[in-house]
Amino acid sequence: MSNEEITERVARLKHERDAIILAHNYQIPEVQDLADFLGDSLDLSRRAAATEADVIVFCGVHFMAQTAKLLSPDKTVLMPDPEAGCPLADTITAEQVREFKAEHGGAPVVTYVNTTAEVKAESDICCTSANAVDIVESVDAETVLFVPDSNLADWTDRHTEKTVIAWGGYCPTHVRISAETIRDMRRQHPDAAFIVHPEAPREVLDMADEVTSTGGMVTFARETDAQEIIVGTEEGLVYRLRNENPDKTFYIVPHTICPDMKKTTAAKIVASLESMQYPVEIAPDVAERARRAVERMLEVS
Ligand code: 13P
Repeated sequence: MSNEEITERVARLKHERDAIILAHNYQIPEVQDLADFLGDSLDLSRRAAATEADVIVFCGVHFMAQTAKLLSPDKTVLMPDPEAGCPLADTITAEQVREFKAEHGGAPVVTYVNTTAEVKAESDICCTSANAVDIVESVDAETVLFVPDSNLADWTDRHTEKTVIAWGGYCPTHVRISAETIRDMRRQHPDAAFIVHPEAPREVLDMADEVTSTGGMVTFARETDAQEIIVGTEEGLVYRLRNENPDKTFYIVPHTICPDMKKTTAAKIVASLESMQYPVEIAPDVAERARRAVERMLEVS
């Protein structure tokens, strides 16, 4: 199928199914080009909650599609490739959250959205990289437990008055961004600004002009006077940054591919809409508790 055929087929199927395509900023170019809406985890959850379409085709990874389903329980949420997971989300189970909480006197649990619905169901409130500081500040306790990303937890701890106790999870893609690589890139591009995602290690965050979510990076790239930017996150975002800022130069940090974010393709989107595959389902008792944690987040920020 040519690109034009795929675009036409997707448009026809979207109309027939009353579907909308939501895609994360890390998706491959052909998927970004088919999306009705591109965003970071927070943008996408807000959009999923607000849509009037019957069907959401979610192009991202599993926890993101689950969050869309939590917020739009009466809609059909489809994942074109259900194997697109998140190794960070797999670093903690619901039972481990219960144990972590018990070990720390029942302190409230702030859960990064990169988790399963079962883990969210054990949590007091969710957050994303875009609102972690505000969410931790909003919790009515001096000490909070933060799961599962230890780098985002550390960043949040440094930017709030609270004591943040971290679970030891991390994103294998972001921890590959090293201070040495960034020093080299800055030597090669001395006028470039450096922006980085808070899942990267502390010594890398300390080198940045801006530490922010992928949505924050889209805004930074648009508003900055810098003409060159080193982008410290999964490399898929750079396609969007280049499209939206054709006069600026963006540098990809080497070895920043998340294989799960590359699993969804245009052909799989066509198949998904044709056969209504693969629907996301969440057990009702888990969904009810997990939804509360996500909705609390959206009420705060
Ligand atoms: P954002 O919410 O910043 O897009 O982060 C997505 C993510 O999963 C990073 O690993």
